Amino acid sequence: MRVCFDDKIMVLKPKSPEESKTEMTVRMFPSDANPAGNVFGGEILKQIDLIAGLVAQRHARTNTVTASIDRVNFLKPVYVGNALILNAQLTYVHRSSMEIEIRVEAEDLMSGTRMLTDTAYVTAVALGSDGKTVEVSPLLLQTEDDKKRFSEGEQRMIQRLKERKKNQ
Ligand SMILES: CC(C)(COP(=O)(O)OP(=O)(O)OC[C@H]1O[C@@H](n2cnc3c(N)ncnc32)[C@H](O)[C@@H]1OP(=O)(O)O)[C@@H](O)C(=O)NCCC(=O)NCCS
Repeated sequence: MRVCFDDKIMVLKPKSPEESKTEMTVRMFPSDANPAGNVFGGEILKQIDLIAGLVAQRHARTNTVTASIDRVNFLKPVYVGNALILNAQLTYVHRSSMEIEIRVEAEDLMSGTRMLTDTAYVTAVALGSDGKTVEVSPLLLQTEDDKKRFSEGEQRMIQRLKERKKNQ
């Protein structure tokens, strides 16, 4: 893949999902929750958005913005005092857009019990210094799992763009 930059042709080196994969742990405080101690969905969404931005920027090495967040499944409650552990990795990359899969677990710090609480897909788009979308490195697919995730991501992206068109 080639991009024109100041009259020079730059070749974008493919990068594996492993290179930008990110884990993040944050502790939940009373200000993150309702009076019963349930952490707000909005707080979890914020952390999902933050980690997706980290992964995207690690891959693109330029500014990235969130274009869409797919349906988020809040599978189990998260409580004040829990550690929220987020794992995120790239599944699909097109020209400037990148799909990131996020899995969120809550850890009870007293017992050490961990539970999957949320899953989400975020699409980030890479922007150049002029604010216009720019091409990013293609995804290097080394394992069968990488290839499967990529093709599932491609299907989700087709669906997403159809829905975007309907809403415009
Ligand atoms: C996301 C954004 C940059 C897309 O810009 P645009 O001019 O509409 O761009 P295009 O239609 O040319 O699409 C550019 C890329 O974004 C992708 N895209 C655009 N909207 C999308 C959506 N809703 N979901 C997934 N991908 C989307 C396109 O498929 C395309 O990908 P590709 O380059 O890999 O083929 C623009 O809509 C924007 O700036 N939105 C606001 C972002 C923001 O403020 N986020 C919150 C703060 S981080």
